[in-house]
Amino acid sequence: MKRNSDFFKELEEKKILVDNAINYYFSKYSFPKELCDSMRYSIVDSGKRIRPILTLSTAEIFDTPIDIVMPFAVAIEAIHTYTLIHDDLPAMDNDDFRRGKPTNHKVFGEAIAILAGDALLTEAFNIMTEETINKKITFKKALLAINEISKRCGVNGVVGGQVVDILSENKKIDLTTLEYIHTHKTGALILASIKVGLYLSKATKRDFKNLTKYGECIGLAFQIMDDILDIEGDFKKLGKKTGADISKNKNTYPSLIGLARSKEILKDLTDTAIDNLKPYGEKANFLRNFALYLSSRQN
Ligand code: IPE
Ligand code: IPE
Ligand code: MG
Ligand code: MG
Ligand code: MG
Repeated sequence: MKRNSDFFKELEEKKILVDNAINYYFSKYSFPKELCDSMRYSIVDSGKRIRPILTLSTAEIFDTPIDIVMPFAVAIEAIHTYTLIHDDLPAMDNDDFRRGKPTNHKVFGEAIAILAGDALLTEAFNIMTEETINKKITFKKALLAINEISKRCGVNGVVGGQVVDILSENKKIDLTTLEYIHTHKTGALILASIKVGLYLSKATKRDFKNLTKYGECIGLAFQIMDDILDIEGDFKKLGKKTGADISKNKNTYPSLIGLARSKEILKDLTDTAIDNLKPYGEKANFLRNFALYLSSRQN
């Protein structure tokens, strides 16, 4: 396995590639100014970019050219950013800080924040389809990737998960319901990020099986870690307030099964994720280290 410092160097390089592409796509818009400023405020130069990095790194295993994958990676980050803007709204989690600065609605007002979220979601589909029309990628592959994203963002994915999350505030729910919330509100888009990398590549059924398992495991693990960081994290590093879940009486892994057990599950999921990368040897070193990084992150 590559040395740790090599992994973090590669992580930073990939983040810069994604940041540059986002900057490129989102500097195209100029009118209405308030809307464009609001979109750029939330998406440019912030966030860990874990979803686009997953898409690029999955496709990399199959030597798929980055210029084919990048528009899809950017689109996924745009969708993720829309979910964050809406998640922070007063009608939802009512949070004041995100990505190290005041939340979108605090700066632009609720109406523009809602519309900026709507626009980011919609433009994501415009970026993917426009690039497909202009590039050497087959329509079938692109359609499968876009279908995957749409499936994992809607009723049976992120939005469904967010609804059950909100409806479960101040209620006692069981672990099965909590797992539904986490795998949908968060796990779904993480899994989609990986599967899009597969759809754009020459991946076999077996590859789909292995990497889907990897994606499901790190997707759930990611939200468990987010729950843990809400208790143990540091505002300065996280860029968002801690203690937010407790103050809203949210159901989280720590609130349901305790911190210690949550950390055990996080480790088990990470181990299982990594196990599923065995067939890819050296080629999956980045994804292996990425799973470890996600389970020990501080932001
Ligand atoms: C935060 O996602 C919201 C969750 C799904 C837990 P990230 O932790 O990936 O946030 P950014 O993109 O780095 O800001
Ligand atoms: C967010 O879950 C899931 C999304 C779809 C944005 P959280 O509400 O726990 O995310 P944070 O903690 O506000 O980032
Ligand atoms: Mg939320
Ligand atoms: Mg929230
Ligand atoms: Mg959270």
